[in-house]
Amino acid sequence: MNSPVMQGLNLNTPTYVKNPKLIAWVAEMAALCKPANVYWCDGSEEEYDRLCQQLVDSGTFKKLNPAKRPGSFLACSDPSDVARVEDRTYICSEKKENAGPTNNWMAPADMRKTLNPLFDGCMQGRTMYVVPFSMGPLGSHIAHVGIELTDSAYVAVNQKLMTRMGKAVFDVIGTDGEFVPCLHTVGAPLVNGAKDTTSWPCNPTVKYIVHYPETREIWSYGSGYGGNALLGKKCLALRIASSMGREQGWLAEHMLILGVTNPQGKKYHVAAAFPSACGKTNFSMLVPPEGFNGWKVTTIGDDIAWIKPQANGKMMAINPEAGYFGVAPGTNHHTNPNCMASLDKNVIFTNVALTDDGDVWWEGIEKDTGKLPDHLIDWQGKDWTPQIAKDTGAKAAHPNARFTVAATNNPALDPAWDDAAGVSIDAFIFGGRRSTTVPLVTEARNWTEGVYMAATMGSETTAAAFGAQGVVRRDPFAMLPFCGYNMSDYFQHWLDVGAKIQAGGHKLPSIYCVNWFRKDEAGKFVWPGYGDNMRVLKWMIDRLEGQAQGQESMFGVTPTYGELNWTGLNFTADQFKTVTSIDKAAWQQELQLHTTHFEQLAYNMPKALLDTKAALEQRLAAI
Ligand code: GTP
Ligand code: SPV
Ligand code: MN
Repeated sequence: MNSPVMQGLNLNTPTYVKNPKLIAWVAEMAALCKPANVYWCDGSEEEYDRLCQQLVDSGTFKKLNPAKRPGSFLACSDPSDVARVEDRTYICSEKKENAGPTNNWMAPADMRKTLNPLFDGCMQGRTMYVVPFSMGPLGSHIAHVGIELTDSAYVAVNQKLMTRMGKAVFDVIGTDGEFVPCLHTVGAPLVNGAKDTTSWPCNPTVKYIVHYPETREIWSYGSGYGGNALLGKKCLALRIASSMGREQGWLAEHMLILGVTNPQGKKYHVAAAFPSACGKTNFSMLVPPEGFNGWKVTTIGDDIAWIKPQANGKMMAINPEAGYFGVAPGTNHHTNPNCMASLDKNVIFTNVALTDDGDVWWEGIEKDTGKLPDHLIDWQGKDWTPQIAKDTGAKAAHPNARFTVAATNNPALDPAWDDAAGVSIDAFIFGGRRSTTVPLVTEARNWTEGVYMAATMGSETTAAAFGAQGVVRRDPFAMLPFCGYNMSDYFQHWLDVGAKIQAGGHKLPSIYCVNWFRKDEAGKFVWPGYGDNMRVLKWMIDRLEGQAQGQESMFGVTPTYGELNWTGLNFTADQFKTVTSIDKAAWQQELQLHTTHFEQLAYNMPKALLDTKAALEQRLAAI
């Protein structure tokens, strides 16, 4: 501790923190990062309000008009820091093959050598916030604790909404309980008393999102945005947790969890994996359309599921999060009324546009008012008018603009959302964004076929990750950016989990593959989507209840036109054909892509999936 900055730095450790390992780690990280001071978050409302006010004073937050949007703020990020950075995300397992071909890898020792100089002094002139959080209900046997050290107050207040954050977490870990250490910096030290020149400090050129799965540590450098910075979410609850789950026999998945209750009061639970910005939040809050009187959908989670098979064969699932970090553009009262209601108050918006009366706006919301506003301040602080948009194509909100909101704001929140025991999953759904080829809905004939469908899922890339958009890539299980170990081992883990439940004489959940995104020749979505996805969900429930026979296709079991409830929707048999047909030539090409994908994942690829592919090829040839 010979650094002058460290001399006299008081760690301010509260007396109620009694975990020597934690205290030693905070001291060590403070010595490395050299913050101006250390602040331990207690998670109180008073603290939340104080930190939000501090963010207003520093210019990071704009307070929205309390008459329009009480308790809410707008943050606009640096244009270089608007999404997850997949090419800067690393899984640093000891062996490269354990990270697998889909992850960036560096040996842990080499990565530590790279990161140590970057983190040395990275928090100069800033506060180091100690943010204690629980993923999952506090003290639940399914939950895990993380402690995030961050120099971003924006991260601290977001974590208050997104997780169970606060001093009760220290009671959970007591003197010797486990926690996942998560270190985060925006990578913009204020050297020699320098002041911020921007309201969104970050490092515009150097970013590292690093995971050490074996020692369960997370180090994130250079970004303040979303999954790069809120380390409980993708880093802990998916990348680290997937690797824990593999060791311990459970699953950490990029899935929403919903409850669906029929008019007789019978309730089912469904977990669905769609890639980023492909409809999880929307589906988890679905409002059934006309013709579905008495049906109810309730939200358990909108992004992540931890699923633990029990001795009785049930797959019990919890949402480890306590809030939603959801995509704003496209959200309106037609596409997602429950989400709009969730956003009435106490919201942090990031990268949406500001209206002249101090409210927020994003592309798609005009469907509610029927007209575009005359003037806005866009997410980059520039004037926006309908004319400017027409002339330049400028978007008022960034396509990956997001809202952060506590789950308790959601009017469709399931009563069991916070239940430590979780809910029992009856069906899994996997769906990519595909404008062609993949039909509206197909049920796998067995677990292995379902795993195959999920393993070969493709999707057009979205603004949720930095990089090219609209390109089809394989996104197995919607976990491509989030699997903390070798993808083929992950497939095997899914097969093993299923085999174990079956060996116990228990029934496995059904598996479905869906695609809401088929387009016609004019490039328009054919399927109405959103609330109308209830029509497909009901068919799945009918299948579970043995009420729908379906028909075999080369890919699995699909509904006939007559098996879907069409009340209130004018959707012809021809249109149905457009979204369900299987084109032989397109599928020959698709299977070629599966082959290439499996070749890339050849190391430890389960033979059962290769066999499933061969069977599929044979069935296709016979069409
Ligand atoms: P992450 O939070 O990034 O993991 O995403 P998510 O899967 O929760 O995405 P979200 O529900 O926020 O979906 C965002 C995008 O999908 C928006 O552009 C929506 O308009 C679009 N979307 C959602 N559901 C549907 C649907 O049924 N049909 C169509 N066409 N678009 C949809
Ligand atoms: C996703 O990209 O899948 C998200 C948003 O849910 S982020 O938290 O930024 O990863
Ligand atoms: Mn997500």
